[in-house]
Order: sequence, then structure tokens, then C-alpha cells
Amino acid sequence: MIVSVKEILLKAKENNYAVGAFNTVNLETTRAIVDAAKETQSPVIIQVTEKTMEYSGGRLIFNLMKNDAEFYAPEIPIGIHLDHGKSVEIIQRAIKMGFSSVMYDGSRKKYEDNLDITKKVVDFCHEAGVDVQGELGSVPYLGETQGYEVDWEKYMTNPDQAASFVEQTGIDALAVAIGNAHGFFKERSKPDFERLEEINKKCDIPLILHGASDWENGKVAEVIQRGINCFNVDTAIRVAFMGSLANFFKENEQSFDLRKILGEARDSAKETIKQKMIFFGSAGKV
Ligand code: G3H
Ligand code: 13P
Ligand code: ZN
Repeated sequence: MIVSVKEILLKAKENNYAVGAFNTVNLETTRAIVDAAKETQSPVIIQVTEKTMEYSGGRLIFNLMKNDAEFYAPEIPIGIHLDHGKSVEIIQRAIKMGFSSVMYDGSRKKYEDNLDITKKVVDFCHEAGVDVQGELGSVPYLGETQGYEVDWEKYMTNPDQAASFVEQTGIDALAVAIGNAHGFFKERSKPDFERLEEINKKCDIPLILHGASDWENGKVAEVIQRGINCFNVDTAIRVAFMGSLANFFKENEQSFDLRKILGEARDSAKETIKQKMIFFGSAGKV
């Protein structure tokens, strides 16, 4: 059952747990996410990036997510979301396709520009009944944190600035940077818990943690207590999927049945996702 992302996040915030926002790229990862949600009875957000819209066809992947949620999991609350929309154009395209939740990611822009564009995006999105996630501070990507000394300060969300960003833009959810990074790469040795507490005190909206693929249970619980309501996971799904393919070919050189090969990869991704749902506390919350 499709429900609004905002509803899923607010319910998690009220009840002190978090949900996963899982990135899909194709039929198999979509089915893995939806089946994991069914098997753990977990509300879930399923999302795609701009690159995935190019790869899979925007309408095609949107309707795949929608049909899977509506026909195969009518009892599970599922929100569909555009992840890391980096331009007004891509967000407008997504809305036309039927997305009712988007992220505008202006985190790499100057503060004033991020504020200004996020405000405009919120205006036209809210008018169309679409929720908006913004990002302040910036969550680094592959390669950016490979050096020995990372200047984490330059990535971090400033709590006072976050309060004014939330108030001035009217966003529905905020992605924060507290030492988290995308991919299985170097993160800050310890997340900045105090900073998260401050952000949470000053911003009364759901807080999103990107780059959560390699966050183990202990750290996950610590940030949920301090206000995180949603963890974004992409890399862990890719790794589980690709690991299964690699094993399959090691053991079955002669097999050409795509349904068997991709089916095993889908199931391996599903097991990884189920584990995350249990860690995040969304399992059983349908
Ligand atoms: O944060 C988002 C992703 O992990 C990067 O995904 O390769 O689809 O842009 P992408
Ligand atoms: P990971 O690379 O840790 O899976 O993060 C994914 C993400 O933040 C998607 O927005
Ligand atoms: Zn992200």
C-alpha cells in the first residue's frame, strides 16, 4: 500500500524508531525491498536516484515500485521517494511521473543558494502535495574521505544554521551530516552525537542519516535515541547482490537461466535488507 513518506517518518519519530530508505535500481532490488518489508512487517521507503531514472527509465521504475507496493504488499505502508534530486528540472519531472516525495540536494552549493533553491522547491512541491527532504552540511562520497586526515568540520551540519534552514524553507525532513559518509568507506571514527542532539533539539522534523550501509547496530541505536528517524541504504544492497552473482559464477559456470541467477542475487539482497529493518526498529511496526 502506498502511503506518504511524511506519514511513515512522522510515525517513526513519534514512536522513537527508524525506518530504512532503500535504493532500488531494477526489478530484482525492488522485489527484494518489498519482500523484506513483507517478511519483517516493516514500513519502508523505496527510492531511486537520478542515475537510476536514466538507467531504468523514470516512468518504468516508478510504476514498477508502485505496482509492487500495491499488488504484492497491500498491507505494508510503502513510501516512494526521489533520492538526491540535484536540480529543479529532475524534481519537476519526478512529480509529473507521480512521485509524492523528493529530496532536493543542494548540499554542495553555497548556503545562500541551497536555502534559496530549497525554498523554491518546497513552494512548488507543497502546492502539488509533494513532501521535500533537504540537506544541510554535506555527506561525503566515495574517494572524498580516503585520505588519512579528513576535515570533518567542513562536512558537518551546523545546528543553528539547520534551525533557520528548516524554518525558512519549510522542508518536511532534513538530511544531516554528523560524520557519516556514503559507501563502505572511511567515516568519522565516532559520529558527533552531541551535534545530533543539538540539531534534534532545534529542528522539530524527521532527521535522515545518509550513508548508513555500514552502520552497525550499536551506532544505529545511539543515533535513533538522538533523533534519527530514517537510514539511507544503497551500497549494502549492491554488495549483497554482486556477491551472490560472483559466487554463482564460481560454482555454476554453465548456467544461463537468468531467473535462477538473478533470483539468488535478489534473495541475498533481501536478507541484507531484512537485517537492517530489524536493526532500525521498523520490523513489526506495520
Ligand atoms: O547516495 C546515493 C547513492 O548511493 C549513489 O547512487 O550511483 O545511483 O547516484 P547513484
Ligand atoms: P550508502 O552508500 O551507505 O548505502 O548510502 C546510501 C545513501 O545515502 C543513499 O542516499
Ligand atoms: Zn545519500
